[in-house]
Amino acid sequence: MSTRPYVIDEMISAKSIAARIEDLCREIQKEYEGTDKLIVVGLLRGSFVFIADLVRELDLPIEVDFLEASSYGDGMESSREVRILKDLRGAIEGRDVLVVEDIVDTGHTLNHVTHLLESRLPARLKSIALLDKPSRREVDFKASWTGFEIPDEFVVGYGIDFAQRNRNLPFIGKVRFTEAE
Ligand code: PRP
Repeated sequence: MSTRPYVIDEMISAKSIAARIEDLCREIQKEYEGTDKLIVVGLLRGSFVFIADLVRELDLPIEVDFLEASSYGDGMESSREVRILKDLRGAIEGRDVLVVEDIVDTGHTLNHVTHLLESRLPARLKSIALLDKPSRREVDFKASWTGFEIPDEFVVGYGIDFAQRNRNLPFIGKVRFTEAE
């Protein structure tokens, strides 16, 4: 897919992300101290970089699983449907589950996934999002832990794409179009 020409301005450096992950992991370790039944669930595709860094910083016995969800509009602005494209490999009943997301925007994806996983009766279900754009929220959802609250900017990098590109940038950048539409 071709896009209008753009440049990417750094918004959150790789160093700041790493420092924030260290802090978050200290909090997460406190929450799960003593448990040996934590499953860390990455939401594909956007969370793949974040979950990789997060789990390597976590000093806990964990398992890792993945779930892929896709959201799409049905023509009505405020009504979004979320489809599960790839489900978890394992059962989560009675387990502690931490869902890892790159960004909470309207909130539909994480809200839907949370309800779905709750119905499978985990012992404890929590979520962590690297980025949160509260000004874009359409459903009342707040992750248990958030890395950074950001304004309504078009962000890419560290797993997040623009037309499937730029996921491999080591930092979070802001897209700036260099030509008028
Ligand atoms: C993006 C992002 C979140 C979701 C957040 O995923 O990774 O999963 O949107 O938006 P929401 O809060 O408005 O639901 P996308 O559907 O672009 O798929 P991807 O993870 O494969 O990039």
